[in-house]
Amino acid sequence: MTELRIAIAGAGGFGRETADAVRDLYPGSDVFAGFLDDASPGLLIADQVLGPVDLVRELPGVRLVVCVGNPRNYFARAEIVERLGLPERRYATVVHPFAQVSRSSTVGAGSVLLAGVVLTADATISRHVAVMPHAVVTHDVVVRDFATLASGVKLGGGVVVDEGAYIGAGAMVREGVHIGAWSQVGMGSVVLRDVPDGEVWVGNPARKLRDVRRPEPSARRAVLR
Ligand SMILES: CC(C)(COP(=O)(O)OP(=O)(O)OC[C@H]1O[C@@H](n2cnc3c(N)ncnc32)[C@H](O)[C@@H]1OP(=O)(O)O)[C@@H](O)C(=O)NCCC(=O)NCCS
Repeated sequence: MTELRIAIAGAGGFGRETADAVRDLYPGSDVFAGFLDDASPGLLIADQVLGPVDLVRELPGVRLVVCVGNPRNYFARAEIVERLGLPERRYATVVHPFAQVSRSSTVGAGSVLLAGVVLTADATISRHVAVMPHAVVTHDVVVRDFATLASGVKLGGGVVVDEGAYIGAGAMVREGVHIGAWSQVGMGSVVLRDVPDGEVWVGNPARKLRDVRRPEPSARRAVLR
C-alpha cells in the first residue's frame, strides 16, 4: 500500500491528461487525490475538484503537480508555482508508464512526461516542465524550468530549451541549438538557428514572427489554463 497522494492544479486538458497518467501509474489506487482549480464551478468535472489551488496549503500530505499553460498563456505554470512558494518536496513528478526515460537522464520535481515520450542519453528535464505525448528528447538535451514541449516535438542532441520556453507540436530543433527563455516555436517549425529570449519563431526554416514578453508580476492574472 502506498500513502502517496497527488493533486493536480488545473482541471483543463493537460490536467486531465496528467490525472489519467497518474491513474495508469497506480491502477486501482486512490493516489490521485483530485484537481485543484480556481474556476471549478464552470467545469464539466467539477465533482473531481477539491477546491481552489491555494487549498494545497491545507493538504500537507498531498503532493502537487501544476498542469496549466496552453500555447496562448504558457507563463501560467510559473505564475502559480511562484505564487504558492511551496518547497520542492511538495511537488510530485509524473512519468507515464509508457514513457521511456534512459538511466542517464533526469526529470525534476513537478514535471510531467506523457505517453510515448522518449529521453535518450544524459537528457535533463528540470522542474515543472510539461512534455506532451511522443516528444523525443535526444542525448545531452537540457530543458529548463517551466518549459513546454508539445506533442511530437523532436530535439536534436545538445539542444537547450531555456526557462519557460514553449516548443509547439511537431516542431524540430537542430542539434546544439539554443531556444531562449520564454520564447515560443510555432507548431511544425524547423529551427536551424538559435532563438533569442522572448521571441516567437515559425516556419521551415524558422524565422522570427514577433516578440513575446512574460507579463510583469503586477500585470499577471491568475489564469489557470
Ligand atoms: C506560433 C503561434 C504561437 C503564432 O500564433 P499567432 O501569434 O496567433 O499568429 P497568427 O495565427 O496570427 O499568424 C501570424 C502569421 O504567422 C503564420 N504562422 C502562425 N503559426 C505558424 C506556424 N506554426 N508555422 C508557420 N507559420 C505560422 C501565419 O500563417 C501568419 O502568417 P501571415 O501573416 O503571412 O498570414 C501559433 O500559430 C502556434 O504555432 N502555436 C502553437 C500551437 C501548438 O503547438 N499547439 C499544441 C498544443 S495544444
